Amino acid sequence: MCGIVGYVGHRPAKDLLLEALQRLEYRGYDSAGLALLESDALYVEKRAGKVRDLAERLRDKSFRATVGLGHTRWATHGPPTDINAHPHSDEHRQIAVIHNGIIENYLPFKEELQRRGHQFASQTDSEVIAHLIEERYDGSNLFEAVRTVVQRLQGAYAIAVMARDNPNEIVVARQGSPLVVGLGQNETFAASDIPTLLSFTRQMLVLHDGEIAVLRRNSAEIYDFSGRKIERAPQQVDWDVLTAQKQGYKHFMLKEIHEQPQAVAHTLQGRYDLERGQILLPELEAFRSKIQNAKFIYLTAMGTAYYAALAAKYLWRELLDLPLTVEMASEFRYSKPYLNQETLVIAISQSGETADTLGAVRMARERGATVFSIVNVVGATLTRESDATLYTHAGPEIGVASTKAFLAQLAALDLLGLYIAQVRGKLSPSQTQEALSSLAQAPVLIEKLLQQEQQIVQLAQIFYQKEHFLFLGRDLLYPIALEGALKLKEISYIHAEGYAAGELKHGPIALIDPDMPTIVLVTKNSVYEKVLSNIQEVRARRGVVIAVTDDVQRELEHLADFILEVPAAARWVTPMLFAVPLQLFAYHVADLRGTDIDQPRNLAKSVTVE
Ligand code: G6P
Repeated sequence: MCGIVGYVGHRPAKDLLLEALQRLEYRGYDSAGLALLESDALYVEKRAGKVRDLAERLRDKSFRATVGLGHTRWATHGPPTDINAHPHSDEHRQIAVIHNGIIENYLPFKEELQRRGHQFASQTDSEVIAHLIEERYDGSNLFEAVRTVVQRLQGAYAIAVMARDNPNEIVVARQGSPLVVGLGQNETFAASDIPTLLSFTRQMLVLHDGEIAVLRRNSAEIYDFSGRKIERAPQQVDWDVLTAQKQGYKHFMLKEIHEQPQAVAHTLQGRYDLERGQILLPELEAFRSKIQNAKFIYLTAMGTAYYAALAAKYLWRELLDLPLTVEMASEFRYSKPYLNQETLVIAISQSGETADTLGAVRMARERGATVFSIVNVVGATLTRESDATLYTHAGPEIGVASTKAFLAQLAALDLLGLYIAQVRGKLSPSQTQEALSSLAQAPVLIEKLLQQEQQIVQLAQIFYQKEHFLFLGRDLLYPIALEGALKLKEISYIHAEGYAAGELKHGPIALIDPDMPTIVLVTKNSVYEKVLSNIQEVRARRGVVIAVTDDVQRELEHLADFILEVPAAARWVTPMLFAVPLQLFAYHVADLRGTDIDQPRNLAKSVTVE
């Protein structure tokens, strides 16, 4: 959590840093701050609240500084107050530090520093870093001071440091939290992610764990923590800046919902040969024998990505003759997983930085398993911690509630499941062709669904004041019921429960009354009749039913109070299609309730702490 940005260049740093912080706010937004190097003095302004509050405070102040640091916080140690906001400094205002992550051994350092007379202002773990560096800084070699300190820190961090009497350098270091460096003309940047820097430069250097870099206007030198220089060529990033902006949509989330046809199309593009009935995943070719010899598969992830894994379970089990299970990454390590050289672990993550997912993957690889990851953010930590990565090509996702990354994950999981089946000889080319023809239809069908938005707005107008919702689904729509409930609670703060429809009678039915609407997902499959019975059970308790269905039959029309129709499609595509109206429903309900949709309270886009 937390977003960090640093700049050393020629432009006025204040405006540039505020602009970058606005883009980083998805990482945390309970407080924000800047440090600027102004005529040999360290100017720090920080406050509880959002970046716009900070900008407002600084609106009439002009600075000449062309070096500075910026931070937007998601509180871990110490509540979101002005004092706990970053940047942090030592009591002599010599050093300024911004930090994303957690310093696990901060307490002994703090006690040790206090014994030596250091005065602490905040309750954060991060402040110790400023004091430790100040003690070691000899007034000229900031790099050495930072390097010796990071060697002693335990935990996860990306930090950026500047010193009052050093107007030409920023030193950054990374261990466990993301950090990229951008190279411009006579200016150098650092930030927690690539999209933040895209409007400034396209030349990026991704730092790895255990690396420290000295940034000057015309250079960025990378070293490992032992001081050994590392040569790395910058990469040219070609994401469209426009895709990281709202383009007239009221919120990023709405824009991203509407980008789903492209997100799915780009994820599928170039990865199959329809004529020959073949899946083409060159990223995984080197692991054919691992796939052939696998005896067990785990899918692991958190949040929305976890629900994508749950949906894939149903499809993969139909295809593969392998024991396969889905484990929430935060529970993976404690569940005595079956891990050895014959285990395949598939980790799914939009950001590729989720701490629990990384923890699961590290354990899996230590125990000999082969790890494939499905990741959206290029160069993310998870891609380096995996044996191979299948990228989703959803483009940057800014809204905290995941939408287009989810559909792209479902598409990538379809491809991966088919690929594993192909490598293990479980699919004939004609079966693959059949699956692929249906998958290829997905973008068009999603586009069609998006055209029904007005109907969903009307439903939202009827229901937005309700305080409780139940979402029911069976079979591969059960995970979509979970995702529908998650979307609604995340952005509208309405209490919503996702349940397997069969579980209704085992508890949730007690909650049903006219004030708790039930959204039931009904698809034309072997459990159709059973789901209709569940609807009967809700109606018998005076519950209001909104049915989302791809098969409107007379009985359902008679039973449901409201019906939302989705196009009928093959099982590969069904979960994607049912997810879209639920995303739109959550969005419009939240919009009518006036919540902060792109930055819902207490959440963060990427959870880099366990
Ligand atoms: C956070 C986000 C969710 C996301 C989850 C997993 O909770 O708010 O939208 O699904 O993390 O994130 P990942 O980046 O690993 O997919």
